[in-house]
Amino acid sequence: MLVRVSPARCYHFTMIEWNLALSTGVPLLDEHHQKIFEWLTELESAALDKRTLFSVYALVRLKHYTRDHFAAEEALMKSAGYPDLTRHMAEHAAFRARLGELQLKSIGQDISTDTVKLLSDWLTHHITKTDMAYVPYMKQPK
Ligand SMILES: [Fe+2]
Repeated sequence: MLVRVSPARCYHFTMIEWNLALSTGVPLLDEHHQKIFEWLTELESAALDKRTLFSVYALVRLKHYTRDHFAAEEALMKSAGYPDLTRHMAEHAAFRARLGELQLKSIGQDISTDTVKLLSDWLTHHITKTDMAYVPYMKQPK
């Protein structure tokens, strides 16, 4: 979507938002995913406006929220006996490491909207492919 703010300034907003196609059907995890997308949107907005301090804040919030979400998701997968837990956890660990590296970089360099888009793409791909694989296990009666 292209938004013309003034004759001299145009901003490109990416489509960073949760939608029903990303629903796992597990209310707690869907709520977490929505919140992560909200923080990504905040981060994108701050990056666009070059609000450096808020960018760093949004990135730290995103990192902490994601860490807590991954822990909750991994605990649910474990209790459901999900067989591909190890590989799933490795994806989570790689993303956490990526956010940590970005936080270090953000000290000396603004976070770009391209970087936010890469994070959003990773999250979308992770939810639609990796997370959706655990859905049948989560729905099994106990
Ligand atoms: Fe996951």
